[in-house]
Amino acid sequence: MRVLVIGSGAREHALVLAMAQDPSVTALGCAPGNAGTQAVAEQLGLLDLADAGEVTALARRWQADLVVIGPELPLVAGMADAIRADGIACFGPSAAAARIEGSKAFAKDVMRSAAVPTAHAETVDNPAHLDAALARFGPTFVVKDDGLAAGKGVVVSPDLDLARAHAMTLLDGGHPVLLESFLAGPEMSLFCLVDGRTVVPLLPAQDFKRVGDGDTGPNTGGMGAYAPLPWAGPDDGAGLVDEVVTRIVAPVVAELDRRGAPFNGLLYAGLALTSDGPQVIEFNCRFGDPETQSVLALLRTPLAGLLHAAATGVLADQPELDWAPGAAVTVVVAADGYPGTPRVGDVISGADTDGVLHGGTRRREDGAVVSAGGRVLSVVGTGADLAAARQDAYRRVAEVKLPGSHYRSDIALEAVEGRVAVPTG
Ligand code: AMP
Ligand code: GLY
Repeated sequence: MRVLVIGSGAREHALVLAMAQDPSVTALGCAPGNAGTQAVAEQLGLLDLADAGEVTALARRWQADLVVIGPELPLVAGMADAIRADGIACFGPSAAAARIEGSKAFAKDVMRSAAVPTAHAETVDNPAHLDAALARFGPTFVVKDDGLAAGKGVVVSPDLDLARAHAMTLLDGGHPVLLESFLAGPEMSLFCLVDGRTVVPLLPAQDFKRVGDGDTGPNTGGMGAYAPLPWAGPDDGAGLVDEVVTRIVAPVVAELDRRGAPFNGLLYAGLALTSDGPQVIEFNCRFGDPETQSVLALLRTPLAGLLHAAATGVLADQPELDWAPGAAVTVVVAADGYPGTPRVGDVISGADTDGVLHGGTRRREDGAVVSAGGRVLSVVGTGADLAAARQDAYRRVAEVKLPGSHYRSDIALEAVEGRVAVPTG
């Protein structure tokens, strides 16, 4: 099978590395890729990642048997529809189904129809209505951009002035604002393979959204992640995963199908585990970054066959997934300036080694690997338990050099110390 992966982050590096171990894969391509994917997959040029026509032509020319689309932007823009219309199997939802991520208002509507628990939300598009709406919600304020914002469009704060200022910036930019009730409890990311009807959950993971230690500073795309979740119940939360699939993911998948927009690809449920049970914070229509780097580090089932089965509607025939025992921890090394405008072009050393996945990197003509984005590297450690995996990750981080870079030093720390707990009613 010839597999083409679309994207250029550490998530895509993790995807191509996993595919490279699948004996059914005869050729592996990545477009546009980065300095890390280049070492494992054929680097294919791509001018515009969001141009469905260009990617479809590339898939045809390269004779792809399966196209896996990493990021949300091309999915929301309909790239999977274009590829499937060309007769090529594609792992990734249609534009109609990708609205579950592309429009928070649509996601809320689907959840309402499917009776899935989620935060109460109101859309504000007129600045004159903002203050009254903020007063109705009260602190802690949750203010979101209704559209795609790469995880950076959200402010969660008890500070009214901060919440108001963020909402005004969004409104001034012509973006409707979504206000939500605050969900208290630890977060869980659950990735599910979906073939339109059948749902196969992967291991649960936790992601660290804020830039600074102790969950301080602005939101980012994600600064680290670990899997599975030792605090989530017996068997690392297997029962909780079943509950989330039954009560949340399966009803949403059925509702999308009922609406004529069956979901085919990776449905990512971002959940808060509250005293009232799991509640949805958001759905994403693709693999999460950096959780994927941790989850795939533990998956033993050949990935290309699995994604092909999802893409072609035969997930129900697949054997149960095979997972390595133990845990995986990912620490993101970010560029100076991130999550604001990152500095690029810095030379990276120590990155061409096992467990170091490339995100925003590029190989210069002279062969040096340089930074080319905000989240530059994802360093993945594994071990017999979370503490060992965490140690392994930070040992590897210490060997990487990138001037001006920063990373969180507390990824998975609370979990290792037994300080994460689901609140009880
Ligand atoms: P989102 O872009 O919707 O994923 O939100 C980014 C992050 O903000 C989430 O991962 C949560 O940490 C936080 N967040 C979003 N919505 C809520 C909410 N209703 N209650 C508590 N935290 C939230
Ligand atoms: N890890 C968060 C995301 O991928 O949106």
